[in-house]
Amino acid sequence: MRKNIVAGNWKMNKIFPEGIELIKEIKEKSKELQNVKLIVAPPYIFLNEAGTILSDKQIGLGAQNCSNKINGAYTGEISPEMLTSTNTEYVILGHSERRTYYNETDELINEKIKICIDNRLKPIICCGEVLQEREDNKHFDVIEKQIHGMLKDISEEQIDDIIIAYEPVWAIGTGKTASSEQAQEMHQFIRNIVSKLYNNETANNISILYGGSCKPTNAKELFSNPDVDGGLIGGASLKANDFIEIAKSF
Ligand code: 13P
Repeated sequence: MRKNIVAGNWKMNKIFPEGIELIKEIKEKSKELQNVKLIVAPPYIFLNEAGTILSDKQIGLGAQNCSNKINGAYTGEISPEMLTSTNTEYVILGHSERRTYYNETDELINEKIKICIDNRLKPIICCGEVLQEREDNKHFDVIEKQIHGMLKDISEEQIDDIIIAYEPVWAIGTGKTASSEQAQEMHQFIRNIVSKLYNNETANNISILYGGSCKPTNAKELFSNPDVDGGLIGGASLKANDFIEIAKSF
């Protein structure tokens, strides 16, 4: 059966000593948690130290991006193999901020997914519509296209390593959250796409996380939906108490 997961996407926040303190605090406070897998995804330069602190793997460690290349002359890039060498197990791919500000396409994200899985990194792949698309009633088409594009030629075996995050762009960092009904409706839609692309069992086993202004005050309601298996948390993952409170919402 699929896992309940709460993952923290720190984005470009915190300086190194603050980040390391936060990881230690989350580790300490997570001891009381049951029934939920925690993942933290700090900026790249924290990963090596974080990998040592989290070496017992009770909390999963994730990166926020990686290169689509194996190695070589790609100045400024970080390869999947470099990430696994620091105990990093997960990687967020296709976040809307990367799509918007760095022009990432489904095709590029698909390349990254393949090379990450080849290097034993588990991708957390993101999809989400912008406000105009929802207002134009195109949100289901947008998500279907993104999922199809990202999962192109991904085999039944490879999909087992993937987590999906639905993050409506209009809800990210805005304080506006998708309603519980909107989240459930889209998560069920995504699970149906996975079922059609693969099979029922795969669809039932894949964790689908909600992201977008998820906080301790709304997490319980969102996570109570049958197809919402947890959250990908931005702002609220930067405070250990809030992050742990969210994880207690199951
Ligand atoms: P916020 O929780 O800050 O809205 O961010 C969500 C997000 O983008 C997680 O990846």
